[in-house]
Amino acid sequence: MTTVLLTGATGYIGSHTWLALHGAGFRVVGLDNFSNSSPQVLPRLERLTGSKLIFEQADVNDGAALSAVLARHKPAAVVHFAALKAVGESTAQPLAYYRNNIGGLVSLCQALQASGCGKLVFSSSATVYGKPERLPIREDAAIQATNPYGHTKRMGEQILHDLGLANPDWCTGILRYFNPVGAHDSGLIGEDPRGVPNNLMPYVAQVAVGRRPRLQVFGNDYDTPDGTGVRDYIHVMDLAQGHVAALQALLSGRGSFTVNLGTGLGCSVLELVRAYEAASGRPIPYEVVARRPGDIDACYADPSLAHTLLGWRAQRGLAQMCEDSWRWQRLNPQGFDAA
Ligand code: NAD
Ligand code: WQD
Repeated sequence: MTTVLLTGATGYIGSHTWLALHGAGFRVVGLDNFSNSSPQVLPRLERLTGSKLIFEQADVNDGAALSAVLARHKPAAVVHFAALKAVGESTAQPLAYYRNNIGGLVSLCQALQASGCGKLVFSSSATVYGKPERLPIREDAAIQATNPYGHTKRMGEQILHDLGLANPDWCTGILRYFNPVGAHDSGLIGEDPRGVPNNLMPYVAQVAVGRRPRLQVFGNDYDTPDGTGVRDYIHVMDLAQGHVAALQALLSGRGSFTVNLGTGLGCSVLELVRAYEAASGRPIPYEVVARRPGDIDACYADPSLAHTLLGWRAQRGLAQMCEDSWRWQRLNPQGFDAA
């Protein structure tokens, strides 16, 4: 069995990818410091995989701990999810973002280099494109991140590119995610934001379940068909399968690559609200308020390169994203820790 180390393994995307990798026959070693996730994820994953998990509680900034983990498990490759991800918070606390996202990546790469493992999948983001000049967005579009979080992703990509130039044994798969939403169809794991959700679908889910009275729609005067922001929502299990495909490509000897992981379809805030109402059978009251600073009109991927290079394509549509999100939210109205 091929061993893969997942950093940030108990987070939203990490936990779903853990399941996908397990399903694809990988031996997964999960690592997390629980700074933005709950240990309660682990028994849920044990239930879903029907097996004892291998988990290491550690911080990716702790080089000695990372070296010990690498020596113990000897992974053939790493998927690096561990990072802070809130755009607004990154503007208020840039140093925390540079320290964790850049410091953590450098510390991980140093430990990997010392251990002789040079295959890494990196969680990047469509945020690196900033306000795109053309839609759909191709990977060769200009990189123009506009906030500290986005800069950490842009710089992370650059660090990995430079490592590859310095050492041809380094092979990295850079995955630029669009807007991950939804949950595993068991309803046992899902997105569990701490405090007020920053992102649209988790907010809508909390309105549907009665935790919040109404959604605030950030602006309806954008240059889009209904005036609300358009994004490329992608089911988190499709995204997870994208990581399986990326790892398989790296392990089969393909060199480094950078690909978008999106559906290629744009969906407006109001379209998502209507789809969620249909999936949940609950009304989603909303009010239109001012634009959120830094938001753009529209952002959706050209996902064709991922299909060409990795044979991967998103399979699930908006209705399923909403149904799976709703099942998770309905069964776990207060998230993991209330269970
Ligand atoms: P998440 O916060 O749910 O998961 C990240 C996990 O990393 C958490 O469990 C957290 O505890 C852990 N972590 C953070 N810093 C750590 C550290 N120093 N050491 C060990 N563990 C640490 O976020 P997510 O949505 O699952 O995102 C995963 C990755 O994907 C991140 O790199 C994020 O920037 C990127 N990404 C997310 C989105 C999105 O909308 N969710 C979009 C594009 C890219
Ligand atoms: C989607 C749409 C909002 C909340 C962010 C990060 C990006 C990436 C994914 C990590 C926009 C509108 C939202 C609300 C609303 N993360 N909205 N009311 O901004 O596309 O991307 O998450 O890499 O870096 O920037 O996603 O879900 O926040 O917003 O009207 O309460 O929903 O204005 O049009 P976004 P989002």
